[in-house]
Amino acid sequence: MKKTIFENMPDMDKARKRVDSIKTIYYDYKPSKELIDRFSGKYAYIHTHGCQANVRDEETMMGLLESIGMIKTDDPSKADVAIINTCAVRENAEDKVFGEIGEFKNLKAKNKNLVLMLCGCMVEQKHIIEQTLERYPHVDVFFGTHNIQDLLKLLDEYITKKSRYVDVSSFEGNIIEKMPVTRIDNYKAFVNITYGCDKFCTYCIVPYTRGKERSRDINDILDECKILVDEGFKEITLLGQNVDSYGKDLKNGVTFAQLLEEVAKLGIPRLRFLTSYPSDFKDDVIDVMAKYPNIMKYLHLPIQSGSDDVLRRMGRRYTSEEYLNLVSRIRAKIPNIALSTDIIVGFPNETYEDVKKTIEVSLKADYTSAYTFIYSPRKGTPAARLVDNVPYEEKSKRFRELVSALEVNFEKHSKEMVGNVYEVLVDGESKKNKELLSGYTETNKLVHFKGDSSLVGQIVKVKITESHLHFLVGELINE
Ligand code: SAH
Ligand code: SF4
Ligand code: F3S
Repeated sequence: MKKTIFENMPDMDKARKRVDSIKTIYYDYKPSKELIDRFSGKYAYIHTHGCQANVRDEETMMGLLESIGMIKTDDPSKADVAIINTCAVRENAEDKVFGEIGEFKNLKAKNKNLVLMLCGCMVEQKHIIEQTLERYPHVDVFFGTHNIQDLLKLLDEYITKKSRYVDVSSFEGNIIEKMPVTRIDNYKAFVNITYGCDKFCTYCIVPYTRGKERSRDINDILDECKILVDEGFKEITLLGQNVDSYGKDLKNGVTFAQLLEEVAKLGIPRLRFLTSYPSDFKDDVIDVMAKYPNIMKYLHLPIQSGSDDVLRRMGRRYTSEEYLNLVSRIRAKIPNIALSTDIIVGFPNETYEDVKKTIEVSLKADYTSAYTFIYSPRKGTPAARLVDNVPYEEKSKRFRELVSALEVNFEKHSKEMVGNVYEVLVDGESKKNKELLSGYTETNKLVHFKGDSSLVGQIVKVKITESHLHFLVGELINE
């Protein structure tokens, strides 16, 4: 077995620390001639699990690999460098990654030169690195979410030293600007505004895997957005684990509402943002949303639970009443807004009554969609240490009850859309049927309709003719 160089190993205690030592670094790595000679014209494959933050990281990594002449491929069997970009938010996300690593064993046997790299949130956990090093000798390089800017350097080290390599630093994190980017989509783009999270909800691993909450300078954000507008992008989504905290650490007085307004003024046809934290969401954001027609009237506002006891134990910093008051204030100024949410069922010792409250509050909030999860204990988080008295089967039963109740509401909203005309940003051919196009409405509803592929990337008007639970069918309105 090859020897392993341990440059940095992750450490949850270090990851938990919050010392204010964030630096902004402008990327300027110059790859060696040997690296370029070795990889130029070769194929790079990246598979991403998890959230939009990971998707945006994939775009940076592909940008870096293309900068040494590599060619992007969607076919892992063609790959000379393959990266699995992992997610640690729930156990089933990790199980999928282990399955995928297993599949690479054969590919690696066929192509001895294939370099297999593992990155993302999962490798921020020491036990995962140890387990993977032992069980999967065909994984060559591990690098963390704070080590992405070192990708080319790591590749260089790996080929020169011919050792397995682990470089996963646990610290608050820095901000790296001006890294190359290869966008996955030609019309829709993600733009990071903050990295990391300081909320430490008791169930969540993200603050440990992504570091301290840190905001990019407004000028760097606006520069990235201006390029997207100039390149003809139609939609920008501003990204942060908690966008409402934008600017707090910069201490220059710039707020999320101001940033949102500045981006809206650049004239991108569609502007969205993710994710909002209820008690940090300020009313000035509602005013900016109401003022600019290009800010989509859609808001993802995770509630997690409708029970105040569970919310308190989750470390969420609001009550269900405060949440619903916020929803009322939003609806008062933006009556046509669509709300979506995240809900966790089965937090340790949650009662059936708690879940009933979640259903009740969800129906009052009147969501048009929701992401629902069964609680998954994450090693090292406070909730994982709690003794839980609820069996998994009971949690699944309650989960199904919640989902059925929510679906009735979603269907009601979808049915109300039938007969009306909506603007849809055309993504491409529909995945269900190649004869159809598909895209999303302002309120993030998926619509399938007949149309010419020349419409891809345009915003068109579609009249809704049928509603289904997870999508709508419509017909193009020719103007
Ligand atoms: N920053 C965002 C998203 C974080 S992760 C937010 O605060 O909402 C996305 C979602 O995964 C969370 O909203 C939560 O609903 C879910 N989640 C996080 N940790 C989880 C866990 N341990 N078990 C189950 N679901 C979890
Ligand atoms: Fe996780 Fe809570 Fe931070 Fe969201 S706000 S990323 S749920 S700790
Ligand atoms: Fe997963 Fe990391 Fe995102 S844990 S949800 S990929 S921040």
